[in-house]
Amino acid sequence: MSSLNLREGESLIALDAVDDGGFAEVEATIDGDAESIVVHRDGDAVRAWLNICPHAGRRLDWAPGRFLRSKAGHLVCAAHGASFSVDDGLCVAGPCRGESLRPVAVKVQDGEIVLA
Ligand code: FES
Repeated sequence: MSSLNLREGESLIALDAVDDGGFAEVEATIDGDAESIVVHRDGDAVRAWLNICPHAGRRLDWAPGRFLRSKAGHLVCAAHGASFSVDDGLCVAGPCRGESLRPVAVKVQDGEIVLA
């Protein structure tokens, strides 16, 4: 996916393109840097974080846009298995327990997930 230079209010991805309870990967330029972002949908609510694991700085997905989810609903880093709460991005188990993913402010607007 090519990197988008987005401003506040521009669409990252349609809400309906993300499975409820699932994840998607989008790319955007934030503060001049091309970033991979993991988007999580929970009904009509959305959360997003940089797709960078605080453990060793690897991407969380095992292939672009393919994220692991534990039975408990945590986002699991494909590299070494750190588990993150999808409520707040806090690492609840694994090698970086207690550290957090870096949040990206997003919201839903007219059926699109946009930078907030
Ligand atoms: S880089 Fe994610 S657990 Fe090691």
